[in-house]
Amino acid sequence: MSFETIDTNVKALWRFDYDSNIKPLRDLYEVAKKEQWNAALDIPWHIETDPSQIGDMSAPNAEPYDFVKALPKEKQIEFAKRRSAHLLSNFLHGEQGAMMICGQLVEVVPDMDGKLYASTQVIDEARHVEVFHRYISRLDRIYPIMPGLKALLNAVLTADLWQMKCIGMQVIAESIAMGSFKTMLAITHDEVFKKILQLTSQDEARHVSYGLIYMKDAIPKMNEPDRDRLEDFAFTAMTLLATTPQMEGGRSTDPFEQIYLELGIDPQKATSEIISRMMDPEAVRAQPNPFRDYAYPQLERVGVITDRTRAKYREVGLAA
Ligand SMILES: [Fe+2]
Ligand SMILES: [Fe+2]
Repeated sequence: MSFETIDTNVKALWRFDYDSNIKPLRDLYEVAKKEQWNAALDIPWHIETDPSQIGDMSAPNAEPYDFVKALPKEKQIEFAKRRSAHLLSNFLHGEQGAMMICGQLVEVVPDMDGKLYASTQVIDEARHVEVFHRYISRLDRIYPIMPGLKALLNAVLTADLWQMKCIGMQVIAESIAMGSFKTMLAITHDEVFKKILQLTSQDEARHVSYGLIYMKDAIPKMNEPDRDRLEDFAFTAMTLLATTPQMEGGRSTDPFEQIYLELGIDPQKATSEIISRMMDPEAVRAQPNPFRDYAYPQLERVGVITDRTRAKYREVGLAA
């Protein structure tokens, strides 16, 4: 058994007038009730997963890496399987974070429509935890959370403004999840995984809508110092997730090192090939980038990116 605690400072807010005051949020709440599904019953778990059909998530829009192509076929399949388990482990941890953050949203958001809707998202995220956990157990083990993801989730859990929680979770994290699920859906041929991604994406689309609707209503009502803080928080959240090095406590946590060693891949060779591709601007442009392609445009849409902060996103390559 392992657990970790962080102190959060959540100010719970009661409402005693129960009438709807943000109609689009109330409508979304109605949609959420209709679109509930059951992770135990609505996924075709009876279909066995053929490992060769999962797909390699490591190079979505490109030729597989040379170090992968050099492996015998069955080891290539094994690599893809473990790589997927690593990626999905991070989604699994992210889903747990989302579940906890939505629990906070129920407490902190000031409108009854916002509270009612957020309560439906708590069960959505519980379902996602359930479904990813179950699917990963078909592939491999659960890998540890990557430091950047953990830093983002902890920043949102401890944020003091409810608008920060809403931007960090509903707009940034949810948009990135949507983009990544879309990429994975295009790669995999496993029917079970496809169904998981389809149903989960349907929920995540609603979660992004909540963020967009609510923030469009709330941001113009904020005072200037809080708005500035929110804009800075959005930038920090984006960079935490996109650029935090894979180091924790001074120790390299190259997430794939364990996979390389177990499959007889030379870690140095693999890492240098991955880094050289990351340094090639053309290759980077060709790869899907959920930060640039999904999260940034949504931040722009709700008015969190302003003349004061736009240049900072460009500097770190996160602007669309
Ligand atoms: Fe989720
Ligand atoms: Fe979500």
